[in-house]
Amino acid sequence: MFDFKYYTPTKVVFGKNTESRVAELVKEFGGTKLLIHYGGGSVVRSGLLKRVTDTLDAAGISYVTLGGAVPNPHLGLVYEGIELCRKEKVDFLLAVGGGSAIDSAKAIGYGLANEGDVWDFYDYKRKAEGCMPLGVILTIAATGSEMSDSSVITKEEGLVKRGYSSDFGRPRFAILNPELTMTLPDYQTACGCTDIMMHTMERYFTNGGNMELTDSMAEGLLRTVKKNALILKNDPKNYDARAEVMWAGSLAHNGLTGCGNDGGDWMTHKLEHELGGLYDVAHGAGLAAIWGSWARYVYKNCLHRFKRFALNVMEVEDRGSDEEIALCGIEAMEDFYRSIDMPTNLRELGIKPTDEDLVLMAKKCAAGLSGGVGGSARKLDEAAMLAIYRASI
Ligand code: NZQ
Ligand code: ZN
Repeated sequence: MFDFKYYTPTKVVFGKNTESRVAELVKEFGGTKLLIHYGGGSVVRSGLLKRVTDTLDAAGISYVTLGGAVPNPHLGLVYEGIELCRKEKVDFLLAVGGGSAIDSAKAIGYGLANEGDVWDFYDYKRKAEGCMPLGVILTIAATGSEMSDSSVITKEEGLVKRGYSSDFGRPRFAILNPELTMTLPDYQTACGCTDIMMHTMERYFTNGGNMELTDSMAEGLLRTVKKNALILKNDPKNYDARAEVMWAGSLAHNGLTGCGNDGGDWMTHKLEHELGGLYDVAHGAGLAAIWGSWARYVYKNCLHRFKRFALNVMEVEDRGSDEEIALCGIEAMEDFYRSIDMPTNLRELGIKPTDEDLVLMAKKCAAGLSGGVGGSARKLDEAAMLAIYRASI
């Protein structure tokens, strides 16, 4: 078991109509002039943005708005946001939306609290020394960015998608109303469930130190999301299922399911980030498309964990060799992806990279890792990354 730090400073306000408490929360955390940052317009169409601005108006809190954070959010809008906030003397950021709006707001926050080019942090050139305070009203259960220390941004030039993690970027508060996720297209709901499960699986498939309590929580979370993802497929307005998934999304990426392990594997995410950067695919779908190929490439090096996953999460029968059980677990996971209409390879994801593209992605992926190597279940170098991409075609 490894030593660990567990730090989750985000105040969570969970339940129906909780967005009505936004002004009170902004005041509690000292905000007087806000930037309300959102995505492509779903919050306008649903009426959420209007409800939020009405509440702020009534409380006498002034704000400026900036929409346009696209899935796989762009650096260009981050620069625009920084400039706008400086001009308007903004002192608090409010992200209303999903991981893309939240991550973009975090990047704006880093840009405001630090000198120089904000991309330096995402390019691993230096570390942030602060971030403008940030609050969140979440509209999709997926990334866990509402409690996480991470932010993922795509630089348009070269289509480089990179994440930066720092405790400074953890939101001060997160308003989680499961009802707000009911307007999601089914595809996005399924992408979200996939991402939530992956955040726990990345921490679960490791070769370094495990803790019984953490494993049990991780397995419980995975079983819960699996069950409720299937409920939502047939009954997307089911409040309880929405609530289970939403809370799981936050817990899956706030560090809880990684306590005591070696920090996790994260290679499915790293491989997906190249797909997201180059092809602009939905993050959750990209993860589902690559996971099976990754799992088959690494499982023998992490057999005890794959066996445990098969038995305790996928409820595979305890029959045959460890390898057979592990493989049954991987197949069962892929069956689950299919059952919620997620892809299990790049073709089903809807992209057709050439071999040259795969070589480029493997190169970029390795370049983003210290020493060009990453992973815990099995250490992967550039050649291994390419082999996994090729197997996922
Ligand atoms: O942009 P709008 O119009 O709001 O539409 C969004 C978008 O098209 C839509 N949507 C969101 N809530 C909705 C809704 N549509 C109808 N009703 C609602 N209630 O859904 C689409 C996806 O939204 P987005 O914010 O892009 O999704 P997600 O939360 O999955 O975020 C994905 C981004 O987060 C990064 C991903 O790589 C990707 O860039 N990640 C961030 C992490 C973090 N910060 O901790 C960790 C993750 O592993 C991930 O890498
Ligand atoms: Zn993710």
